Amino acid sequence: MDRIATIKGFADLFSPESRAFTRMETAARRVFARYGYQELRVPVLEHTELFQRGIGAATDVVQKEMYTFTDRGGRSVTMRPEATAGIMRAYLDSGRNRQEAVTRLFTFGPMFRYERPQKGRLRQFHQIDCECLNAAEPHVDAEMTVMVMRFMSELGIDDLELQLNSLGCARCRPAYRALLRDWLGRLDRDRLCEDCRRRLDANPLRVLDCKMPGCQALTAGAPFVAAHICPDCREHFDTVRRLVAAEGVDFTLNHRLVRGLDYYTRTAFEVVSRGIGSQGAVAGGGRYDGLAAAIGGPDVPAIGFACGMERLAMLLPAEDDPRPDFHAAVLAAQADALDTAFAVCQALRDAGFHGELDHMPRSMKAAMRRADKSKARCVLIFGPDELAAGTVAVKRLDNGEQATTPLADAVSIVAGIVVTS
Ligand code: HAM
Repeated sequence: MDRIATIKGFADLFSPESRAFTRMETAARRVFARYGYQELRVPVLEHTELFQRGIGAATDVVQKEMYTFTDRGGRSVTMRPEATAGIMRAYLDSGRNRQEAVTRLFTFGPMFRYERPQKGRLRQFHQIDCECLNAAEPHVDAEMTVMVMRFMSELGIDDLELQLNSLGCARCRPAYRALLRDWLGRLDRDRLCEDCRRRLDANPLRVLDCKMPGCQALTAGAPFVAAHICPDCREHFDTVRRLVAAEGVDFTLNHRLVRGLDYYTRTAFEVVSRGIGSQGAVAGGGRYDGLAAAIGGPDVPAIGFACGMERLAMLLPAEDDPRPDFHAAVLAAQADALDTAFAVCQALRDAGFHGELDHMPRSMKAAMRRADKSKARCVLIFGPDELAAGTVAVKRLDNGEQATTPLADAVSIVAGIVVTS
């Protein structure tokens, strides 16, 4: 029979990757707490309509990448391709918009997009996601942008570029969109890539951030959004840039940065690494003042970002000591010693030590070698003599000293070795 393998684009994360994920989550909790963020966990499955209306029906994510299926009750449901729409839904569902002035939330978890897998791009990937809800002030945009970069520094990742843009608002964007569509309409359609030809009518802004060199050359002279935003948006963006710069955070203005999800308004940003190939965006986000209304809620100005954990993991500096402290390897040399060895090993754990029982090793020599290689502090050996006398042989692995002690003293002997070795 064929052995069943994992689904294409889905990955198993053993250590050290899984440990890297824990390190990122721990650092995120530490940094975000300083800014008042609280953890939230939302479902992986949502009504398909949430993403159609929230992210936008014309986006690549909704048109081509969602894992959508009909559940047994006949409803169309979707494995979340991102967390923002679900968090906004949860926020509105919970009534927090009526109870709290500003709500700051973060979450970790898997997202699902049916993209073409390559290095740094998976179909199940993980995000660290932060959202600040019900805040319109540019100070919040600046706070969040600075927080992302402080988080990266805390992880030891410094060689990154922060890119900023402003996408305007519901008042100024329609005129810009019409202007851009006119401008693009004068191009030779056939010279654009297939995706851009499709985007021309439904999503003209996305033509600007197409990565194909041909499309980029063709649109080099296009009107860029930041030059056509209204005075309010201009003032908002100027303040964001001033505050971010004042915190010593370098950034570049990227006029082509329009983001792949339709909900963005005003500030948009990405954090890009040149070190990990073509999938260099390690974080992306921005303001999305219209999302709540798009999913049937009131107006809730908000801003957020998400980091791709697999991409961040590629940039994380190596750990100093990746292995957890291993205190005692417990060896039962014969079958009738196994129960006693089991009980002593358990007593060690109950006292807070890391003990591992080697169940009936076939060769004691090989078992000792294994224990040595595992960097255990000591080995507890249960052989026939020890069993008969109610004792255990304890060997320190730092200096090779061995002593036989009564069973009742085993835990305190190990405790002594742990503090002195
Ligand atoms: P996004 O730019 O689509 O934004 O994704 C954010 C990050 O997730 C990307 O910068 C990238 O690091 C990672 N990512 C995206 N797709 C993949 C993939 N297929 N494989 C591996 N990593 C991936 C959002 O998702 C927005 N919800 C961010 C946001 C939060 N905006 C406001 N609040």
